[in-house]
Amino acid sequence: MNRSPIGIFDSGIGGLTVTKEIVRQLPYESIIYLGDTARVPYGTRSKEVVASFAKDLANFLLKRNVKALVVACNTISSVALEEIEKMSPVPVIGVVKPLAKKAVNQTRNKKIGVIGTNGTINSGAYEKEIKNIDPEIEIISVGCPLFVPLAEEGLYSHKATKLIAEDYLHNIILAGVDTLILGCTHYPLLKDAIAQILGSGVALIDSAEPTTEELKKILAENDLFAEKNVPTREFFVTDAPERVYQVAGRFFGSEIKDKIKKISLT
Ligand code: DGL
Repeated sequence: MNRSPIGIFDSGIGGLTVTKEIVRQLPYESIIYLGDTARVPYGTRSKEVVASFAKDLANFLLKRNVKALVVACNTISSVALEEIEKMSPVPVIGVVKPLAKKAVNQTRNKKIGVIGTNGTINSGAYEKEIKNIDPEIEIISVGCPLFVPLAEEGLYSHKATKLIAEDYLHNIILAGVDTLILGCTHYPLLKDAIAQILGSGVALIDSAEPTTEELKKILAENDLFAEKNVPTREFFVTDAPERVYQVAGRFFGSEIKDKIKKISLT
């Protein structure tokens, strides 16, 4: 048993979609969330810069004695997971592997679509994971950089979102995939708009549930569950906590009001 918190980090607020599922499935676990809202987006940056920013985030959480690190960001998980693993004395759980595994289990026609930031798509991380499990699967990947600001602005079903989504998803539809990986932690917020365009024949899967399942597996294997415990939940960001509440309060709930604190990483 271990009552130390689980550290969860992201380039901004997207990781809260994963955190919400972790809190739902593991109600006794304490968590510390850290979002780098001062330097978001990471999805447009080079691998070196993402890795260096991500190490700052991991360091902050490791100093607070977390018992595991959840990299709740597809971009960081795609380009810098190895570096985080190298520096971390505690288990590190990324979002790419569990999500790729779920997609492979889900597809019937062996055609999977992947959408994400340009950083995630250009890294080829999902292709690599999927082909490792089943080399016969066809994969079509599309970078959807405008989805992040649309989600942050709360334009979940705005006509601009629909138009942009139609354009981004055109080749995914032509490819006839039956499973689409929402390979960015912001994209679950646009799930309805994406589902409307793709129709019910395409299963949309995101990071929240498979990552939480993987976290549970790792906690069990290392005997790290907190068991019955009154958990603490802390939320840190590197800029604009009020705006974070405005955006994240919509999907995370009012629980985080007044709890989001601004910190400096330097
Ligand atoms: N949270 C990031 C991800 O999952 C998206 C935002 C960003 O570009 O930093 O890829």
